[in-house]
Amino acid sequence: MFRTEGSEPVKGSMLSLAIEAILDFAGERRGHFRLIESEVFSHDAYGTPRELFVAFFAVIADCLRDIVGEQWSDEIDAAWHKLLGDIEAIVLQQKHLVDARA
Ligand code: HEM
Repeated sequence: MFRTEGSEPVKGSMLSLAIEAILDFAGERRGHFRLIESEVFSHDAYGTPRELFVAFFAVIADCLRDIVGEQWSDEIDAAWHKLLGDIEAIVLQQKHLVDARA
């Protein structure tokens, strides 16, 4: 799905911005979290299915759980579950853009 040239920095930027959006969404909601809503539409254009877009956040959670190991408490697990559900709701409620060529 990524461009053949220069895609590594784009992937790094994507992950970094996604993490900033998660932290803002779970915390102060100063604005970075809005990236989640807006990127839904650019990813429609990239051909990323919305389910896959949502799954990205769960992959981040899984990676963190692996890193944190035994310190991953029930409280942390419940908080991530809630966060992932809230993000899924936001993504799935965005309306698909009408194809201008239709
Ligand atoms: C599995 C899920 C995802 C896939 C397959 C995916 C795929 C892509 C693709 C194909 C691009 C364009 C790359 C290019 O120009 O070559 C891109 C860029 C980008 N994605 Fe994603 N994406 C996913 C999830 C996300 C999520 C969850 C976020 C943030 C909420 C996000 C944020 C971005 C941003 C900000 C860019 C532009 C990065 C830049 O150019 O600096 N992506 N993504």
